[in-house]
Amino acid sequence: MTISNQSAAATPALARAADLLPQLRAWRRHLHMHPEVSFQEYQTAAYIRSQLEAMPHLEVSQPSATSVLAIRRGTLPGQTVLLRADIDALPILEENTFEYASQQAGAMHACGHDGHTAILLGVATLVSEQPDIAGELRMIFQHAEEQSPGGAEELVFGTALMDGVDVVTGLHLNSQLESGVVAVKPGAFMAAPDNIYITVLGRGGHAAHPEEAIDPIAIGAQIVGNLQYVVSRGISALDALVVSVTYFQAGTTTNVIPERAELKGTVRTFDAGLRERAPELIERVVRGICQAHGAGYEFRYELGYRPLINDDGVAELLRQVALDTVGAARTVVAQPTMGGEDFSAYLQKAPGAYFNVGSGSDHSDSKFPHHHPRFTLDEDALVTGVAMMWAAAQRLAQPD
Ligand code: NI
Repeated sequence: MTISNQSAAATPALARAADLLPQLRAWRRHLHMHPEVSFQEYQTAAYIRSQLEAMPHLEVSQPSATSVLAIRRGTLPGQTVLLRADIDALPILEENTFEYASQQAGAMHACGHDGHTAILLGVATLVSEQPDIAGELRMIFQHAEEQSPGGAEELVFGTALMDGVDVVTGLHLNSQLESGVVAVKPGAFMAAPDNIYITVLGRGGHAAHPEEAIDPIAIGAQIVGNLQYVVSRGISALDALVVSVTYFQAGTTTNVIPERAELKGTVRTFDAGLRERAPELIERVVRGICQAHGAGYEFRYELGYRPLINDDGVAELLRQVALDTVGAARTVVAQPTMGGEDFSAYLQKAPGAYFNVGSGSDHSDSKFPHHHPRFTLDEDALVTGVAMMWAAAQRLAQPD
């Protein structure tokens, strides 16, 4: 899909945000050069804080060691709106060679959180320039989205961040969408990413005499295969469930049957009822196969982030904002994804919706998937992000 940049300058929000592009680019590139992984974002937080403290009318604080909160209190009647950006990088060795590539070996902004941070700094700039605003705007620069249990959990349930918040929104750049496109959908948007840990306890022995051993590799292979029947035979085809075994470790050499095999994997669901049933559906397979072959087992099911379910009303409002901001040709219905996102924690305390802004373009070589060592952003998407977040904040702040 090719979309002309002409229509991009058509709306006031986009035009205003476009003025900020050189600054947005500078912020994003600084962050890109200096990535820090989850729970280690000390320099990142200090940098964000220094930028916010240079802006008038903002109260800046740090609700946790590596997150930053900026609050703008208005005197006009209105809602308390929370905008969220995540700020952490990933433990990936960057393969990009541009001049602002990571200077931190083994860490990289490969998911676009550098862009999310620049976008929210852009919104903070615009809100700080306003003589007054409706309601109250809280902008949270959240640490540790990439590593369970996630930074959101700590902020939402361990601090006063959400006290009095009426509505919340946030965005993720998406390299698989054309730069400048906005995607939003009501209801189930992102899955709950849970983890499974299985140990098959066999009996070691000589590989030439398997009858005297209990082979945990043969049994583990049965488990890998049979877990797929949980998906295809155990639940309705209309329910969404992914079970992926991603780790299988056993043995040391060719002539020894080992004692044990270690398996790990991920389980993805949207539906709360199915998520509750999933541990037993999976353990039943593990138990049955191990029993059939005389092996023991250990099983652990680790809950990850909650599924991200957008509020229908807020999602519709964001769709209207997108139509006004980027136009009908660039407003699409988001595809639900089995990926996870700890933005879901905020939705436990207030209604809200999460949306995507496209950041892929051929001319900026920015269509690599997220978490790829060559991932990058089309920086024009930063303008779209600011325009959308700024327009959404104003719309959501309107009194009931
Ligand atoms: Ni991300």
